[in-house]
Amino acid sequence: MATSITLIGLSGSLRHESLNTHLLRAAQERLPQGCTLVIESIAAIPLYNFDVETAHGIPGPVTALKDAIAAADGLLIASPEYNNSMPGVLKNAIDWLSRPAADIPRVFGNLPVAIMGATPGAFGTLVAQNAWLPVMRTLGARLWSGGRLVVPRAAQLFDDAGHLTDEAMTKRLAAFVGAFVEDIRATRVT
Ligand code: FNR
Repeated sequence: MATSITLIGLSGSLRHESLNTHLLRAAQERLPQGCTLVIESIAAIPLYNFDVETAHGIPGPVTALKDAIAAADGLLIASPEYNNSMPGVLKNAIDWLSRPAADIPRVFGNLPVAIMGATPGAFGTLVAQNAWLPVMRTLGARLWSGGRLVVPRAAQLFDDAGHLTDEAMTKRLAAFVGAFVEDIRATRVT
């Protein structure tokens, strides 16, 4: 029997009709056997402020998300692209998750991370995905580079209810997540 795998999914968009959240939900419906994808929200994470951290410590939603990631087998990020980089809301969330710095190895150290992204534009978030590379490297995460999922012209690939209806992209998504999970299974130290 395949080892059970739990992934945490993070969308880098707060909006209700987010293409990236739709993409994560589509992934949830096409997981390999024995794999669970828990989609967490970054909506309750405040703007990072060192004064707040000093006076009040780490906010509850940040601690909860840190613990969920630390307990998971991997992290699947669906990142929009803003101005040829990552969106500030997601970078802000990751910055909070990296506090205090002494906790980085517990939360991110050797954590398998896969990044994908959807955009109505033509380049499929390729530039934003590359922008995450130095961040993940700094955190000591194990950024999975065995596959790449860019979703250009994404507005045309989902129906009004947010379901992925494009057959070719559905296959690509399943293959991407499948290969990520296979790599986690192959490299996991039990
Ligand atoms: C964008 N968008 C965008 N798209 C892209 O492919 N490359 C880019 O550089 C940018 N830049 C950008 C900047 C800002 C400030 C906004 C608000 C938007 C468009 C973006 O991909 C689009 O809004 C997506 O729908 C955002 O993702 P969600 O919310 O659908 O997940």
